[in-house]
Amino acid sequence: MKPLKKAVLPVAGFGTRFLPATKAVAKEMLPVVDRPLIQYAVDEARAAGIEQFCFITGRGKTAIVEHFDIAYELEKSLEERNKADILAELRGLAVTPGSIVTVRQQVPMGLGHAIWCARAFVGDDPFAIILPDDLMQCETSCVAQLAEAYRETGGNVVAIEEVPMERVNKYGVLDIEKDMGRLVSVKGLVEKPPVEKAPSNLTIIGRYVLMPEVMTHLAKLEKGAGGEVQLTDSMAKLIGTQPFHGLRYEGRRFDCGDKLGFLEAQIAFALERPELAPAVRGFLDRYR
Ligand code: G1P
Repeated sequence: MKPLKKAVLPVAGFGTRFLPATKAVAKEMLPVVDRPLIQYAVDEARAAGIEQFCFITGRGKTAIVEHFDIAYELEKSLEERNKADILAELRGLAVTPGSIVTVRQQVPMGLGHAIWCARAFVGDDPFAIILPDDLMQCETSCVAQLAEAYRETGGNVVAIEEVPMERVNKYGVLDIEKDMGRLVSVKGLVEKPPVEKAPSNLTIIGRYVLMPEVMTHLAKLEKGAGGEVQLTDSMAKLIGTQPFHGLRYEGRRFDCGDKLGFLEAQIAFALERPELAPAVRGFLDRYR
């Protein structure tokens, strides 16, 4: 079995749900406490042993690439002003030279199309997909949990969670073959089904480990739900030819593409920081 070393991060979306904040700023650069969403995604992947990253970008997204570059003038100035702690923190975030490549998705044709843009990067290797909008708060990195499940099952694994039935139409939904608790074997997948047609309330969140063969199906660029090329449709075609499982990951997900999810994430992540938590609790009390 090939080790999981690659991740694809689609970051080309307009961030429509967050306008006007995202008119000139990439939504992946919006900070939760003091780090942009993209940083959380990369850190989560690195904690799972991922070494190579492919960002699927678009116009107006150059700040994401800048963020992972060395800011020489900034570092020099911090050094001169004896800001050793901030400097050490910045340097701790640095990625290995050559570990990030970017590909432009020239036209927004859907998540499936974005992933297909990474086909040369993926080659013949298994790869993780991380949707940075979905911010994870997990003791063990969510991608690491998926990587573990990949080693166990030898195939495709998607992170899943249960949602109230009336919200299944916002997600990719699993048709379950066998529910084994932590792992669920999958016999079908459907993207954003109408509530009354949904096969279950187990939904895919923005974390995947997929086998490279998914690219063969994506290459057909068939349009699905919402007139977009859907990743879910091509994943569904792998079922029966390769193992395909859902993993009930341990942890919490915040939908940071949504205003409420983003606000809740600010509070949850601030409360995790010992230097901030007491003050945050204090001011939350004032808003009761
Ligand atoms: C995408 C996927 C969907 C998945 C969701 C998780 O949808 O197409 O299957 O459930 O991410 O966040 P989007 O949120 O981009 O509409």
